Amino acid sequence: MRAMTVIPGRPDSAELSELPNPQPKDGELLVEPLCLGVCGTDREIIEGGHGEPPPGRERLVLGHELLARVKQGGAGFEPGQLVAAIVRRPDPVPCACCAQGEWDMCRNGQYTERGIKALDGYGAELVTLEADFAVPIPDELGTFGVLTEPSSILAKAWEQIERISRRACSAHERVLVTGGGPIGLLAALMGAQRGFEVHVLDRATEGVKPEAVQALGARYHVGDVTEVAKQVEPDIVVECTGVAELVAGAMQHTAPGAIVCLTGVAPSRTLSVDVGALNNELVLENDVVFGSVNANRRHFEQAVRALREAEPDWLRRLITRTVPLDRWPEALEKGDDDIKVVVDFAQH
Ligand code: BGC
Repeated sequence: MRAMTVIPGRPDSAELSELPNPQPKDGELLVEPLCLGVCGTDREIIEGGHGEPPPGRERLVLGHELLARVKQGGAGFEPGQLVAAIVRRPDPVPCACCAQGEWDMCRNGQYTERGIKALDGYGAELVTLEADFAVPIPDELGTFGVLTEPSSILAKAWEQIERISRRACSAHERVLVTGGGPIGLLAALMGAQRGFEVHVLDRATEGVKPEAVQALGARYHVGDVTEVAKQVEPDIVVECTGVAELVAGAMQHTAPGAIVCLTGVAPSRTLSVDVGALNNELVLENDVVFGSVNANRRHFEQAVRALREAEPDWLRRLITRTVPLDRWPEALEKGDDDIKVVVDFAQH
């Protein structure tokens, strides 16, 4: 079978490799990928900033945003059924969080991640998937099921925001999302689904991003984060870029008692920031800034519900390009108007 592989840390190592077909072990399904989303993490792995091959191997099978059809079922999964796949596997110790199925909160860093950290990913013509880490996708979602994994990241972020917001005396109203890529747009979708007044800040002046934001009934902003934050005075910020200026800007000029959730990662970057002023704002306004990564089973299930509630026409806008498996490295090239790029396993 053909598989999308890379040597983590070695630029230009992406290739379509020929690998033996995998054999499912006890408790595993054999699934046939239909499509696979690519994201910034995949790009980072190729560029050397992230990623680790399975022990004793040089190459890693890439891909963690899977929509597949079950070929060989078991444990309640029938052949023909659509599934998405959880990315992280609990650490072997396990830490208190992993022991409770909250592997997204792993305390010792010994977790593994399919397609990212020490386990092969889902970018191959056949994949074995532990039934415990498969997520049923309703047929009506079809191809949009490929958005389950990125949506799970925001489902987790929103769950954490809601937990923190229980301390507030009155309901929060205004949400600012920084970044209008797939993570930002899905954050905005979930904010709109919760009834918030949603604002999205991005650089693009036209195209899919402003259209998708407006279609949610949300407001789209272009410009300086400080100016936009001053104007919006958000109760909640979901930072979806990891860009240093936006991260620093997103924490300031929020409403008192604001919650700032950081979801992006980016290469290290030095910035001159008045930490004293930032500290004073956080302290004097009881603000919370926290980071959020990954997702557990509950978040994947919440993601499926959010996608089912979304308008299919809105979800369609997010998948801006599909690339056939034999040309998969093209999926990692960043086009100006790309939102989610998907490797299509059926397209030749
Ligand atoms: C994935 C997460 C993962 C993170 C760090 C993201 O792209 O969606 O599941 O935990 O990268 O490896």
